[in-house]
Amino acid sequence: MQSAAVATESEQENPLIEGLERLPVRPTALVIFGATGDLAHRKLLPALYNLAHEGSLPERFEMIGVARRGQEDEDFQDMVRESIVRFSRRRPDQKVLDGLLSEMRYVPGVFDDDQVYGELGRALREFDERAGQPLNRVFYLSTAPQFFPVIASKLGAAELSQCEKAETRIVIEKPFGYDLASARRLNDEVLDVFEESQVFRIDHYLGKETVQNLMALRFANALFEPVWNRNFIDHVQITAAEDIGIGGRAGYYEGAGALRDLVQNHMMQLLALLTMEPPSSFDADRVRDEKLKVLESIVPPSPGDVAAMAVRAQYGPGVVGGKKVGGYLEEDGVDPHSRTETYAALRLSVSNWRWAGVPVFLRTGKQLARKVTEIVVTLKPVPHLAFKNIGSVGVQPNQIILTVQPDEGVSVSLGAKIPGATMRIRPVNMEFRYGTSFLSESPEAYERLILDAMRGDATLFTRGDEIIALWGIIDPILQAWHADTSSPVPQYPAGSAGPAEADRLLGSDRRWRRL
Ligand code: BG6
Repeated sequence: MQSAAVATESEQENPLIEGLERLPVRPTALVIFGATGDLAHRKLLPALYNLAHEGSLPERFEMIGVARRGQEDEDFQDMVRESIVRFSRRRPDQKVLDGLLSEMRYVPGVFDDDQVYGELGRALREFDERAGQPLNRVFYLSTAPQFFPVIASKLGAAELSQCEKAETRIVIEKPFGYDLASARRLNDEVLDVFEESQVFRIDHYLGKETVQNLMALRFANALFEPVWNRNFIDHVQITAAEDIGIGGRAGYYEGAGALRDLVQNHMMQLLALLTMEPPSSFDADRVRDEKLKVLESIVPPSPGDVAAMAVRAQYGPGVVGGKKVGGYLEEDGVDPHSRTETYAALRLSVSNWRWAGVPVFLRTGKQLARKVTEIVVTLKPVPHLAFKNIGSVGVQPNQIILTVQPDEGVSVSLGAKIPGATMRIRPVNMEFRYGTSFLSESPEAYERLILDAMRGDATLFTRGDEIIALWGIIDPILQAWHADTSSPVPQYPAGSAGPAEADRLLGSDRRWRRL
């Protein structure tokens, strides 16, 4: 199809996004395995529409959906239309939508059936012939994780993992592995067929604008980097709180839990970007080398240390957003004796020259008081308070708060004098908000990531060695929790800030930031 570049009204009127580039993308065929699944429905297909809407798709773009359901191209196109109308962040433009749908094809079949790959091969060759040139190929695996190795090996066997004169890439959704051993195995299975440079392991947090802004904030400003170390920073808190339960995902969540679902990937990525050394360039491997280095400086806990540095809990009944909700153990599909955690908090140390002695606290949970993802860097107190006797009660250590969502932005808390005759101080905030500074809505993470995979830019994807380092930190905690089958799993009321047990990780003189 020919993608249309249609500027929305707000884009046309918005001088602040002047200079936004449309990055060139070579002609591409995108194959989505699991194209009728929930992720495709809610995120991938709407993201494709938004790329088409702003003219970011390659001039020649073809797509094939692969899934088990038996249906014709037209049924698939109707399904895609419905996904886009329901979940696109922009109201679809009829012409752009029709253009995008018109060439979408569908291949039904189970993922271990050779026929599927034969048919895919034929369709891809046909695209190439029609275009008069070989199209780049992107295979997007949005299926249940047990199919990842199956699909990779079948693509290899059908000689679809390489293409003369065009690039072939494979995008693999999370979860990449279930623990350290299975992640290693999966890496080996995928790398048996594809080169590392062809493999794009997705972590959608890396596609969020504010997460990338973390690098801009650190490395495009002279203000922060001088204090970004153990001499000035007291501690770091990373929070990913959600005000939703597990929805209909008990089947997945029971086997996953908060540590695998959010900490091993999204939160540890935030930690890596926050603590890594400045890369020499923003080349994919230079950035990932630095992330790997810092992840390798986090010493995995020994089994005996886990109880002191990690807390797990489950939500009990409570009230969220004014609505009564049941506890985790009452959710459909959840074992009433389940020990799966819906909340996890950790205390980690980055043992290197820059960070030695600075504790990093992570917490995440379902059914908490509100949805917020933020990083809070708390500086050390000032060394001397000159106006101690005349009202410095309000003096608080400075904090740099990076809000990933909602209200994306950065704020710095400062001590300021309250107007009046006496020197009374209280914290005030200096703020930058995306919404007000750029007057534009941030693209969805998947828009950026799909585009990057099509362009072959792996900076925002997790490299094989990185995924192993991530699991290496988390694995001992999983094992210790798995081995402990008797101590009660703490409960927290739905709608609260989490379990009291998490407070002990911080020690007596620090507090979790209010949710
Ligand atoms: C997913 C998890 O990776 O991230 C979900 O599987 C979680 O359980 C989601 O709700 C959170 O993503 P976001 O972008 O809404 O913060």
